[in-house]
Amino acid sequence: MIPAKRRKLGAPAAGPVADVIRFPHVAVFLLEKRMGASRRAFLTGLARSKGFRLEDSYSPAVTHVVSEKNSGDEVQAWLETQTPAGDADRSVHLLNMTWFTESMAAGHPVKIESRHRLQVKAKSGPSAVTNTMGAYACQRKTPLEHHNAVLTDALLLLAENADFCTNEGRSVAFKRAASVLKALPGPVRRMEELQGLPCLGEHCQRVIKEILEHGASSEVEMTRHSEHYQAMKALTGIFGVGVKTAEQWHRAGIRHPADLVSSEHKLNRAQRAGVEYYEHLRVPVTKAEADRIGEIVKRAVDAVLLGAEITLTGGFRRGKQTGHDVDFLITHPDEGREEGLLPKVVSWLEARDLLLYQKTNKNSYLEAKEWPARPPSNMDRFERCFSIFKLQRPWAALEEPPQSGERGAAETPGWKAVRVDLVVTPVSQFAFALLGWTGSQLFERDLRRWAGQKGMSLSSHALYDCEQKRYLRATSEEEIFAHLGLEYIPPGERNA
Ligand code: CTP
Ligand code: MN
Ligand code: MN
Repeated sequence: MIPAKRRKLGAPAAGPVADVIRFPHVAVFLLEKRMGASRRAFLTGLARSKGFRLEDSYSPAVTHVVSEKNSGDEVQAWLETQTPAGDADRSVHLLNMTWFTESMAAGHPVKIESRHRLQVKAKSGPSAVTNTMGAYACQRKTPLEHHNAVLTDALLLLAENADFCTNEGRSVAFKRAASVLKALPGPVRRMEELQGLPCLGEHCQRVIKEILEHGASSEVEMTRHSEHYQAMKALTGIFGVGVKTAEQWHRAGIRHPADLVSSEHKLNRAQRAGVEYYEHLRVPVTKAEADRIGEIVKRAVDAVLLGAEITLTGGFRRGKQTGHDVDFLITHPDEGREEGLLPKVVSWLEARDLLLYQKTNKNSYLEAKEWPARPPSNMDRFERCFSIFKLQRPWAALEEPPQSGERGAAETPGWKAVRVDLVVTPVSQFAFALLGWTGSQLFERDLRRWAGQKGMSLSSHALYDCEQKRYLRATSEEEIFAHLGLEYIPPGERNA
């Protein structure tokens, strides 16, 4: 026969909610962060079965915060996000697991000793910020304008070069490091200021150190001037050309798009357009041009389906003033009305000679077939059109005159080729599509990774909870962040 005490211990999580509270003055909150939901539930049940008062969520009533595997600074930083300004230093005890375990063993809250307390460093300028930075881009606010462009440009060049060498892991590592520096509140001046920051591996630190000490990194400068990097940059800059194709061409001696014109290399339809409009497309699209294209797309959409709505997404939604293309989402408030919309929009545009190139894909998304069998792909399956617009330039006079020496588009009178992505989404998936198409790419990547470690699966179509085995619906981006247990990050701060 198991003694009564042990029996209780055996099944604490299932214990009744109405356990008698024996120590009402001690309100314990278990911080889930690294503890994990199931362990937290187990410990909560255990403590309640012993008459402890365990709070489900943090509130000013909490007297004891217990965490596992988090540093004191992390917990302090978290606490500051929970309490109104100025209230963070109220006398909450920040404790480690030893206090909790000893209290469970004793059957009452044991007296707090210094070994039970988490060590919290005194705040000192940037280091306080350093310690609060989350390792996932979706946990941080990354503004467009930041203070470390010299360092991030260098790291992003190495990332780009790693892509050209088909080393994705390395590329993402450099991008992550750059993204962390973008989120800092000021310029980095000394290596010590980087202490405790996530995602800064040894290689990145070496590059940063060299730049801080000598003004430049020899590796970055060597790469920048290397023949392979320059050729790959030019060739992958052609619309329709990926790294693999560029690498094949490079091995065959092709260095520049112009080399393709005279060669017998076969180009597909997208690549032919890419070569033809290369000089146009390498000139960044301005916000004014994006808005002008928005007006045209709106007119096209209105003409073929009354009530349809368009939304500017991608970099421009994040506040960028220039971009490599313009991205739009199209939807209709009545689910289903948006079906088959895109071919009509395309015909409308073509009839007016507004498209230089287009490729339209049908919607191939079928919820029933996607999950849980299939892992989320970062390619979504919306009805979409990758296009090149022919944008007339009546407003060009309003812009800055072209710099002398600028080639290509500036010489072409009257119009400019502009890459435009049109994506159609059913209104029930709109919030997910908007979140998925606003970017940045690293922000999206980390959102999906974050969802994964929370037992969820996120795509531009839906969010699936793998534990509850159900879809989590949302009609706004805010709701999706909430489902994911993340603070809402507005588009302008997703420039990771
Ligand atoms: N995207 C996507 N599927 C694609 C292409 C892009 O889901 N086939 C998403 C990307 O993840 C990104 C967003 O759409 O979040 C915009 O992509 P893109 O236009 O490539 O990048 P921008 O951030 O808009 O940058 P830019 O201003 O240079 O266009
Ligand atoms: Mn874009
Ligand atoms: Mn795009």
